[in-house]
Amino acid sequence: MRLTVVTTFATLPLVCYALDRTTEAGEASITSPQAECAPYDYPPVTAQRAAFPVQWKPATILPDDSAAQSRWKSIVANVPDTPPKPVPGSSGSGSFKYPSSDPDCWWTYGQCVTPKLAGLPPDIADVPEPATMGYGFDDGPNCSHNAFYDFLDSKNQKATMFYIGSNVMDWPLEAQRGITDGHEICVHTWSHNYMTSLSSESAFAELYYTGVTPTCWRPPYGDIDDRIRAIANGLGLRSILWKYDSNDWRFGSGASKAQIDANYQDFINKANNGSFTSVGAIILTHELNNFTMSEAVQFYGQLQTAFKHIVPVGVAYNQTQPYVETNYTLPTFEEYISGTTAIAPGENGKLAQPADNATTSSPASSASPTPTGTNAAIPLLSWPLDRLFLVVSCFDILLLELYYRLGLDFFIRHGHI
Ligand SMILES: *[C@@H]1O[C@H](CO)[C@@H](O)[C@H](O)[C@H]1NC(C)=O
Ligand SMILES: *[C@@H]1O[C@H](CO)[C@@H](O)[C@H](O)[C@H]1NC(C)=O
Ligand SMILES: *[C@@H]1O[C@H](CO)[C@@H](O)[C@H](O)[C@H]1NC(C)=O
Ligand SMILES: *[C@@H]1O[C@H](CO)[C@@H](O)[C@H](O)[C@H]1NC(C)=O
Ligand SMILES: *[C@@H]1O[C@H](CO)[C@@H](O)[C@H](O)[C@H]1NC(C)=O
Ligand SMILES: *[C@@H]1O[C@H](CO)[C@@H](O)[C@H](O)[C@H]1NC(C)=O
Repeated sequence: MRLTVVTTFATLPLVCYALDRTTEAGEASITSPQAECAPYDYPPVTAQRAAFPVQWKPATILPDDSAAQSRWKSIVANVPDTPPKPVPGSSGSGSFKYPSSDPDCWWTYGQCVTPKLAGLPPDIADVPEPATMGYGFDDGPNCSHNAFYDFLDSKNQKATMFYIGSNVMDWPLEAQRGITDGHEICVHTWSHNYMTSLSSESAFAELYYTGVTPTCWRPPYGDIDDRIRAIANGLGLRSILWKYDSNDWRFGSGASKAQIDANYQDFINKANNGSFTSVGAIILTHELNNFTMSEAVQFYGQLQTAFKHIVPVGVAYNQTQPYVETNYTLPTFEEYISGTTAIAPGENGKLAQPADNATTSSPASSASPTPTGTNAAIPLLSWPLDRLFLVVSCFDILLLELYYRLGLDFFIRHGHI
């Protein structure tokens, strides 16, 4: 009994002092995965919720969103009216007959990455630089990603992070960390559904409502065809696929760690035996949970040995403008491999941080990456209005704990427990 009580209270100050859930830096400094994953309220995003679709449901253009409507109107003429396809494995998918000529360049059917519809650029499925790995992670931001991002930071390693809009809504400060750490952020849709199964307008909305305003995206399940490519292209998004798959997401639903390890190992063997000496490679991996991130950490050293360079996909393509907002610049490939991995503006591999002055702050002066771009974007960084309150309440908890400890000691000394 006594042990339980004391233990509970003993952990409180630790959690409390680490816990600043109001700023990117505060959130990034939390080291307990449990504390990281406790939901928090971030007022600038909460205030915007009504301006975004329902989380984890196929997105639709909101009825009163005239900016989205007119953007959609400007794109729709170039979108083929191919009917939506069934979700693989769903009822009716068995009877669905898709011509073997693959008229839609449907990746899910035959891994097609070169569109048949005129005017669309090919998907990115590898990187042109020899012996180079295009490093990327799907499905973030995951609430417990601090250990993984700390690891990447310690290696001065940037990656391409494919964020899900519904996750950004839940974990806005984690998404902000991705930007602050200098990773390249791409869209991984609003709700992570099969894109070719959605109506064109819904597929548009899946790509329109985003965090920052990226210029790249990756289709969940790789599910893309020319109809979806036309919509993405209309929004200025390059489609990034992959050629190798770690299948790390399958852990816990049918695959063992040994199988995932073998997938990584096979990819590493290919790199070691010269398979990528003329053209580099992209492997699909995830920021999904502790397992997928731990695998990334475990194999990083071997990948580093097997490849000459590991860079974000955009860097491998000298894609120096990662967002619609023009004030973020990715280093070129040459710059990156010469050691300038930092996304500009910023220093030491980090973006410039806003001054940490709770009381003198105003949203107008904050370095918020909320875009002025054309897409609706979740406001990511603003000022810590209730930080002072947090510090004071943490102090209260400490006092409370001392009080209880003294109380318990008193009772213990007097033989009550
Ligand atoms: C390299 O290794 C891979 C996987 O082990 C194998 O499939 C491929 O044939 C090997 N290639 C060469 C050139 O040895
Ligand atoms: C994020 O990772 C944690 C730790 O593995 C896991 O418990 C959680 O379910 C993940 N979150 C999502 C949304 O998948
Ligand atoms: C996985 O979880 C353990 C236990 O909570 C933690 O110590 C470790 O840092 C986590 N690893 C990653 C990569 O998130
Ligand atoms: C990137 O730029 C370098 C020169 O700085 C060049 O050698 C390389 O071919 C470029 N790569 C691409 C994909 O444009
Ligand atoms: C923040 O506070 C420091 C001193 O604590 C001060 O020098 C600085 O000017 C302040 N910055 C802003 C933006 O108010
Ligand atoms: C970049 O520009 C956006 C929109 O113009 C602005 O909100 C943001 O503060 C800028 N970010 C940086 C790091 O300068």
